[in-house]
Amino acid sequence: MDTGAMKKEIKNLLQRRRGVLLAHYYQRPEVQEIADFVGDSLALSIEAARTDARVIVFAGVHFMAESAAVLSPDKTVLLPRAEAGCPLADMVTVEDLARAREEYPDAAVVTYVNSSAAVKAASDVCCTSANALKVVESLADARRVIMVPDGNLARYCARFSSKEIIPWRGYCPVHQALTAEEAAAARQAHPRALFAAHPECRPEVLDLADFVGSTAGILRFAGEERVEELIVGTEEGIFTELKRRCPAKAFVSPRADFVCPDMKYTTLADILLALKENRTVVRVPEEIVAGARRALDRMLAAT
Ligand code: 13P
Ligand code: SF4
Repeated sequence: MDTGAMKKEIKNLLQRRRGVLLAHYYQRPEVQEIADFVGDSLALSIEAARTDARVIVFAGVHFMAESAAVLSPDKTVLLPRAEAGCPLADMVTVEDLARAREEYPDAAVVTYVNSSAAVKAASDVCCTSANALKVVESLADARRVIMVPDGNLARYCARFSSKEIIPWRGYCPVHQALTAEEAAAARQAHPRALFAAHPECRPEVLDLADFVGSTAGILRFAGEERVEELIVGTEEGIFTELKRRCPAKAFVSPRADFVCPDMKYTTLADILLALKENRTVVRVPEEIVAGARRALDRMLAAT
């Protein structure tokens, strides 16, 4: 089946099943093109919570589909490629969190959405890269905050927060791979360009950036009039939406291979098969749903 026929069939099946296709900005171009909604982690959570579709097909990674299942428990959530995970999300466990709470009994726990539902349930509140500082500052009673699992996001928040931030040791291998030398070399090669970076990048990379924000934040920044050429410090899937929104601007990557392999698993053929065979259904154990929902709802209320 060619791409056009596949897209048509996906649209038909979505309509027939009252389904919605949600995609992250890091997905393959052809997947973003047919999605009903493309967004950053925060916007995707909001959309998953409010859609009246019966089936949510998640073109993203496992933690995103899990959050959708928690926020919309009456819907069928499909992750077309079950193995699409997030190595960062695997860098903290419920047991780790229990030990951290013992070590810092007075600290609140803010958990990045790039985490398992079980870890979310053991947290006080969730955050995304778009709202992390706002969420941390919303914790009126906490003087100290443990932020898991991304250490770089935690250290970035600590620069602006009124709280004492205790960063976890996790990192995104894709963003961590970008070095300050690479970022500086890109700046030198493109002296007129501005540099936007995702907060999952190393602190020394963020020091070189003109703007730091989530994927949606970077897209907004790219749209500003003062930006003519932009060095993009995040996964290269975002170029699809950058070029769509700003066709006259120039975008360059500071790395030759700025790719999240997990985000690239999902193909149109996978989405088609997922809809046909109802797979893979993402289910969150009942005893975890309520706690994870509380942490996600608290985040959405603070946003
Ligand atoms: P955003 O929340 O900025 O979309 O990022 C998600 C992610 O996985 C970043 O690596
Ligand atoms: Fe996880 Fe990093 Fe991939 Fe985002 S880019 S899904 S944080 S591994």
